[in-house]
Amino acid sequence: MIYFDYCATTPLDKRVAALMANVNENVFGNPSSIHRYGQEAKGYVERARRHVASAINCQPKEIIFTGGGTEANNIVLWNVLRENKKHVILSAIEHPSISKTISLLANWGIEYTIIPVDSFGIVNPNSVRDAIRNDTGLVTVMFVNNETGTIEPIGEISQLCLERGIYFHSDGVQALGKIPVDVRSLNVTSMSFSAHKLYGPKGVGALYLSEGTRLNPLVVGGSQEGNFRAGTENVPGITGFGLAAELAIAILETEKDRLRKLEQHFLESLIENIPNLTINGHQEHRVQGVINITFPDVPGDDLLMNLDLNGIAVSGGSACSSGTLKPSEVLKAMGISDRLNRRTIRISLGRYTSKSDVHVLAEAIVKHVQHLKKVNTPLETHA
Ligand SMILES: Cc1ncc(COP(=O)(O)O)c(C=O)c1O
Repeated sequence: MIYFDYCATTPLDKRVAALMANVNENVFGNPSSIHRYGQEAKGYVERARRHVASAINCQPKEIIFTGGGTEANNIVLWNVLRENKKHVILSAIEHPSISKTISLLANWGIEYTIIPVDSFGIVNPNSVRDAIRNDTGLVTVMFVNNETGTIEPIGEISQLCLERGIYFHSDGVQALGKIPVDVRSLNVTSMSFSAHKLYGPKGVGALYLSEGTRLNPLVVGGSQEGNFRAGTENVPGITGFGLAAELAIAILETEKDRLRKLEQHFLESLIENIPNLTINGHQEHRVQGVINITFPDVPGDDLLMNLDLNGIAVSGGSACSSGTLKPSEVLKAMGISDRLNRRTIRISLGRYTSKSDVHVLAEAIVKHVQHLKKVNTPLETHA
């Protein structure tokens, strides 16, 4: 089986797995305990906090470990209920952990404005500026989109929020490990991260919260994580996240370069044989290794299943949580018709993708697209 769905999740790096196994077996203390067992566990958590903080250029005390990216986003969003300013601005391409949460919050009096994106999937900071009201309490725009890999201009958006004293949150889950993330120069109030997108464990994430920002915990109880997130820490998971972040940063630039070459190689052989395909998203403002492609002649789910039968895993649209074949909201927001939306797949390359892997993928796609085109042509009307 060859894996091309690194945006959905990544395999655990073997070095991370080995460290976690060791901690699981040997470091069982509760980090809140005063005795040596507790202090040893606390040492692992704090070392990981330093590694994650260094990966995004902040202070360790500005890192709150969570149960994943979804939880980190939720902590920020649910706090809007407690603020006087109850208007939220979000982009049209947010992950459901942002968009669904905000539409749920509308039941409790939160009002929101959705900022459209252009055909490349990019938010215009001027549109954010125009949507700001006197009662805007929060603006949230993701850093890197999980379906197209497009990088959003969050530095510009954070600047206009800063000038107006508005909280700016960004979902950085798909950014960390793919592009440099410097929360200090980006000037975000908070940013969320997830370990399993960078070869770390699932169910562990972090929220960067700039020093001095007030926030109530979502999970209430003990005083762990500086009172921002109660519950005994997932010591092996957090330890794994710390190492995963350290490793990802160490090879970030060489990986970017390698993935760019692999992508080029892949697309060249594909375009030569399927000239009518379209690549969605921005061709410059994007991360390497995320390729969102529409094949106008074949249904994406048929292609996906044929590839799967051939031992190749790709994704249709986002499919991050649901596994459903609904048209993607992100592609819709970019103005792509439902018909073409359903003819789109996402290929995401990563640390273990080789040149021969992308060669096999290109050949398999060409074969299946040509076959499915023949099979589907007489039945076009149902689409
Ligand atoms: C952009 C984005 N935000 C948030 C999440 C959720 O992260 P987690 O799976 O750690 O809850 C994902 C996961 O797919 C994502 O891609």
